[in-house]
Amino acid sequence: MAAKKAKHMTVKEIKEIVSRLTLQEKAYLTTGVGSWETAEFPKKGVPKEWMCDGPHGLRKQANDVHADINDSIDAVSLPAECAIAASWDRELIYEAAKALGKEAQANDVQMVLGPGVNMKRSPLCGRNFEYMSEDPYLAGELGAAYVNGLQSTGVSACVKHFFANSQETDRFTSSSEMDETTERQIYLPAFETVVRKAHPGSIMAAYNKVNGTYMTENKKYLTDILRKEWGFDGMVVSDWGATHNRPGAIEAGCDLTMWQQHETDKDIIKAVKSGKLAESRLDEACVNILRHVFKTLEKHKDVKVDLAENHEIARKLFESSIVLLKNDGNILPLSKKKKVLILGDFAKNPRYQGGGSSHVSTSRATNVVDATKDMPNVSYKQGYGPGPKAIALTDPKFWTTRITPSDYKPDKKLIADAVKAAKQADVVVIFAGLPEALESEGADRVDMRMPDSHNALIEEVAKVNKNVVVVLQNGAPVEMPWIDDVKGILETYLGGEASGEAVRDVLFGDVNPSGRLPETFPFILEDNPSYLFYFGCDDVVKYSEGEFIGYRYYTTKMMPVLFPFGYGLSYTKFDYSDLQINAKGFIGDEKTGGITVSVKVTNTGKKAGREVVQLYIGVNKCALQRPIRELKGFAKTKLLAPGESEVLTFELTSRDFAHWNEEAHAYVHYTGEYEIQIARNAEEIELAAPVDIEGAYPRKTVNNNNPEIN
Ligand code: BGC
Repeated sequence: MAAKKAKHMTVKEIKEIVSRLTLQEKAYLTTGVGSWETAEFPKKGVPKEWMCDGPHGLRKQANDVHADINDSIDAVSLPAECAIAASWDRELIYEAAKALGKEAQANDVQMVLGPGVNMKRSPLCGRNFEYMSEDPYLAGELGAAYVNGLQSTGVSACVKHFFANSQETDRFTSSSEMDETTERQIYLPAFETVVRKAHPGSIMAAYNKVNGTYMTENKKYLTDILRKEWGFDGMVVSDWGATHNRPGAIEAGCDLTMWQQHETDKDIIKAVKSGKLAESRLDEACVNILRHVFKTLEKHKDVKVDLAENHEIARKLFESSIVLLKNDGNILPLSKKKKVLILGDFAKNPRYQGGGSSHVSTSRATNVVDATKDMPNVSYKQGYGPGPKAIALTDPKFWTTRITPSDYKPDKKLIADAVKAAKQADVVVIFAGLPEALESEGADRVDMRMPDSHNALIEEVAKVNKNVVVVLQNGAPVEMPWIDDVKGILETYLGGEASGEAVRDVLFGDVNPSGRLPETFPFILEDNPSYLFYFGCDDVVKYSEGEFIGYRYYTTKMMPVLFPFGYGLSYTKFDYSDLQINAKGFIGDEKTGGITVSVKVTNTGKKAGREVVQLYIGVNKCALQRPIRELKGFAKTKLLAPGESEVLTFELTSRDFAHWNEEAHAYVHYTGEYEIQIARNAEEIELAAPVDIEGAYPRKTVNNNNPEIN
């Protein structure tokens, strides 16, 4: 039944409605009906809303069944979050999320469950493909762009999974344990940015505990920080099945328990009657839910969407996301006159999305074999078979079966066929990466390897042809044992339904790649800073690497990596010049203004292209032990023709220079010598300007060993 547009309701009117509900009705309202709806009381003027996954497209289940996760209506599969983050493109993410919002409206959906802005703590997290970055600034900025785009249609976003939900192992029970500094520097800020810059209608409380308390019952974060400190005024929803104690959740600030849990309504009634739960708190939860319902229904429009149009939006965003990692001898772009052999099952059956609750059913997915069928010099061989299929998250076998890269056995005949054809080709393009069975919601990866069958194909083909390009489809970093034997690598992540034509256009140069890695690719898993502590023990996961996550660790430790955070090449060249800053320092306090920075970027190469300019604040001298450099700004140029320039401007706030202090329980400034660094990636700084900061810390009484500060 089509949603009914609601008239605008003031908070006063909503409170009046809540005051007319019985205690039983209020308890009933604070959990869903089935998997996707809120409760309704038509006679009391309470309408319902419908919600569904997100974040990479609409997973609307035709009927209210959670049993088959892959059974949903035809919808546009956008690039997964790992890919969209690689675009570093606020505008295109806004457009794609807006397209998703329109699909939601057309299907009577009031809230989309996404985006996910959890930190990528380890390459092993099975859900990394659904998150943006290892950097809170990048995830926060892009998450805000996503929410603003989606909510521009009137549909609400539900930002997830709040917070410190960085692994799938024991996700329902484990406790993420960290100090205040780690929370405030790394795991909270992306959520804070999205709340402050985009005002999401909803936040999803994660499955896990933080410092011993389930997030659905964690008042410190749901109420004190989220609502009181950041000013969140939407509805807090539990992850599906994450509530263990309904009255406790209401008390902590978790308004709505999803999915349906009416068997525990009685617990709320009992808690109110016994005085353990204040009825006023229950009323507030009901008001938060109904404000959300009315606000989204008020903006409901009967719209029609053109899925072909949204396919083009998905394609544009994906094109902006593809990262060129290696291009020796300018092997790319390929000439259409050369004999090009495409290899790999992924070329024909691309892995364009992740597994689990974000799975979208689309009828429009393209592949590169079809997309090149009119090109007479291009041929295809399979090279490896599909291997073990992913088991759906809703199948009980999922929890007892572990598929590993070694389960993908090389097929000698397919490899021999591929090698034979490779001998005749000018260039070989091998599609490889991670099959869905190796990375999915619900399970972490066991290692960073690609399937044996993919690695074997690359290795054998590289022995007979020196012009090999690897196109990767994966949601998280992989080890590349064959890296020195191939000339080109494109990291395409999980590109959504427009995979085929977008990759073709990058390979043949119709599109110049402009994506940048939103995460570090270490050489081996053991290099990752969380390596010793990831997964945890006895349901306790210590975040002992603290704020030294991702590039914050590698750059501070000066540790070589396979590809640094922010890395990506282009078919053209860009020169940076004219770094201007309007202040050389400041005395830090709450009211201090920021610093404006500008830089000129010029395309000095022969092809039109886009550049991502990254601004890091570097720490040259400061008493605090902290990462030597942190991302605090980025901008992507327009398409610059050869010779063309663009001046990019960045506004830094005083908070950008601050660091959390556990004594003050606040962001404070530490006296020191800092640097504004304009960089191509976390390791390549092109221009820098010093900034001196005089802050309240370290306090003179602090006994540290730095004679210049004491
Ligand atoms: C996932 C959420 C998802 C929800 C509804 C949960 O298992 O963690 O991300 O939105 O299911 O499908």
